[in-house]
Amino acid sequence: MNDYSINLYLDLLKRCLLDEIYRDGSITHGVEEPYNPAARAEGRDWPRSAHTMVGRLRLDHLEKCLQSVLEENIAGDVIEAGVWRGGAAIFMRGVLKANQSIDRVVWAADSFQGLPEPDSERFPADAGDRHHAAPELAVSLDEVQSNFERYGLLDNGVRFLPGWFHETLPEAPIKKLSLIRLDGDMYESTWVALEALYDKLSPGGYLIVDDYGAVRACRKAVEDFRAKHGIEEPIETIDWTGAFWRKRLA
Ligand SMILES: C[S@@+](CC[C@H](N)C(=O)[O-])C[C@H]1O[C@@H](n2cnc3c(N)ncnc32)[C@H](O)[C@@H]1O
Repeated sequence: MNDYSINLYLDLLKRCLLDEIYRDGSITHGVEEPYNPAARAEGRDWPRSAHTMVGRLRLDHLEKCLQSVLEENIAGDVIEAGVWRGGAAIFMRGVLKANQSIDRVVWAADSFQGLPEPDSERFPADAGDRHHAAPELAVSLDEVQSNFERYGLLDNGVRFLPGWFHETLPEAPIKKLSLIRLDGDMYESTWVALEALYDKLSPGGYLIVDDYGAVRACRKAVEDFRAKHGIEEPIETIDWTGAFWRKRLA
């Protein structure tokens, strides 16, 4: 495929993943709303049918990061920790496949049963967190694999890590990463993923945090981790909640 065809494919992929085509509404924290293009663009809603709650702005940014990884030969696989229906991970697989990248795996880590109950003794910032009580956030492994399959993207380039992050991520057989996408909402989920994965991120690789603006506890986990490890690369914002930094090139 030439660049023009790749761009056309990726644009259509985003339109499908975001439900910009059929435009079903949303059920955010149990509140039903008709399709709202602004909310979808910014990923502010919990869509009824879309395969990702990440909005257009964050998918566009994810595409740019992946293109940079490919063009600059930043070594390593990519991972999303917190995949829900799979949409952002499906998109990553689509970008890699369209670019005929054969050696990079997309890792998809999730409990596939929603968020954990807060462990406020170990992670006080999560006290009172109610994400675990939202049944909309629990999507099974079967359903996520079926979603990959519907896009023709369930293949050897995708590996699933089912289970709680603290059980799966430290032991995952991942050697190197070029991009880490964290979308686990809570302090624990963000902290555990950073501790398990950041050392594997190549210089020039991207660390993306979906909930940096939306969830105070997530933001605190990122700030605590950066302070503990003396990370000085500036955090840049993607939209109202998404943020990222690029690991310094050696
Ligand atoms: C907001 S959703 C992710 C949205 C998704 N990235 C998308 O493209 O729409 C959060 C996901 O993180 C998972 N999750 C959060 N904390 C977790 C943990 N500690 N261990 C395993 N899964 C976790 C939940 O099961 C849920 O699927």
